[in-house]
Amino acid sequence: MKITVIGTGYVGLVTGACLAEMGNQVVCLDRDPERIAALQNGQLPIHEPGLLDLVLRNARGGRLAFTADVDRAVAHGRVQFIAVGTPAGEDGAADLQQVLAAARAIAERMQEPRLIVNKSTVPVGTADRVRAAVTQVLQARGLPDLAFSVASNPEFLKEGSAVQDFMRPDRVIVGAGDEPSAQTLRQLYTPFMRNRDRFILMDVRSAEFAKYAANAMLATRISFMNELALLAEKLGADIEQVRTGIGTDPRIGTHFLYAGTGYGGSCFPKDVKALVHTAREAGQELRILQAVEAVNERQKQVLVDKIVTRFGPDLRGRRFALWGLAFKPGTDDMREAPSLTIIERLLALGAEVAAYDPVALAQARIALGERAGLRLLDQADAVLEGADALVIVTEWKEFRSPDFAHLAATLRQPVVFDGRNLFEPTEMQALGIDYYAIGRGSS
Ligand SMILES: NC(=O)c1ccc[n+]([C@@H]2O[C@H](COP(=O)([O-])OP(=O)(O)OC[C@H]3O[C@@H](n4cnc5c(N)ncnc54)[C@H](O)[C@@H]3O)[C@@H](O)[C@H]2O)c1
Repeated sequence: MKITVIGTGYVGLVTGACLAEMGNQVVCLDRDPERIAALQNGQLPIHEPGLLDLVLRNARGGRLAFTADVDRAVAHGRVQFIAVGTPAGEDGAADLQQVLAAARAIAERMQEPRLIVNKSTVPVGTADRVRAAVTQVLQARGLPDLAFSVASNPEFLKEGSAVQDFMRPDRVIVGAGDEPSAQTLRQLYTPFMRNRDRFILMDVRSAEFAKYAANAMLATRISFMNELALLAEKLGADIEQVRTGIGTDPRIGTHFLYAGTGYGGSCFPKDVKALVHTAREAGQELRILQAVEAVNERQKQVLVDKIVTRFGPDLRGRRFALWGLAFKPGTDDMREAPSLTIIERLLALGAEVAAYDPVALAQARIALGERAGLRLLDQADAVLEGADALVIVTEWKEFRSPDFAHLAATLRQPVVFDGRNLFEPTEMQALGIDYYAIGRGSS
């Protein structure tokens, strides 16, 4: 099938490459010419395991092309996926400017029928807005009868395992208002579901809503555990043991029950805000989600609160080593990463920070800029030297089994603030390390 994907971020690029891998002819369009030039030279703008191989293989095979030429992109695909950004606006609502601009770009050029598929995360009712925008342009072009449809196909991939998620989806949700659109999308996704049909067809509004409901539920689980973790500290209980105890209940399950430094990333923060906003516009308060957000904002401060309790509120002359900058392991995405809040506050309190991340240093430099007192280094070991404590923010695998003797000998004092509960408090105590984790009574 001939496919066009508009937007070559995490979602667009993975979608384009995976669809090409199944034999489709894919053209990916982006408005950023530098991004396109890099992709044409075989360089990825993002870190995503397995993606480079996929892109290179399919580009070489002639099934995947990148362009900044809108005419070419719109002329190519019978199916046009919109996978552009939908950031939070000032009022928390999803900003649809990129989506509507992409829709108009299609409408201004299309000569033949098109199926427009919203893959971006968009509020309920967006397909109607896209339809109205396209209709308006077609009428202005004197082509009111040119056929098109708009479907919703929200994306559920996770950064860090995006290729695997797309190639073996848990489910593919499609909201389509007409049978031919549903059939086309079913045909497109069938190769990804050879062992079991995971194609879930529903109405367009429900599909749009399902994406927000999923992210809101996951964010809720995280905030729930973070709030209980604070209580566990007060009660002398260990949230990690509690987590194991409840996660083994199949009604609860083990995922997204980890207490930590709060959720971040390009999706949960903005999607929770957007759903709260949508509800308010519909005349309803989403009290649970408002609390989820408030708990999360507070949780981003917890690690620094512990540092302040240990070292006092004036951190001038103190140095901290920080491991992990990306909002989660497996990605270089720094959007809304808790590390940003933690670093800002440590610097504001007068501390110096030396930070390391295996893949996110370049993005962190862009996100944080040049800051007095901040150094971003490419060696985990190098940041430890002369530091008063180690602060662990992202749970990269390489942080899970450090050489503790070396760590304790390199730090000025053997103090670890662990925002991801990577270690056992009793073992750390036996090693003579002053250990502060999240929600572990003994710390
Ligand atoms: N990142 C994720 O893990 C994830 C997962 C599921 C869903 N989503 C959703 O998917 C959407 C895209 O997310 P992302 O992280 O890939 O975004 P991103 O910001 O990484 O990438 C968006 C890309 O679209 C391009 N773009 C914007 N407007 C354009 C236009 N009119 N024409 C051509 N290109 C245009 C931008 O230049 C950019 O390269 C968002 O709605 C997001 O909420 C993201």
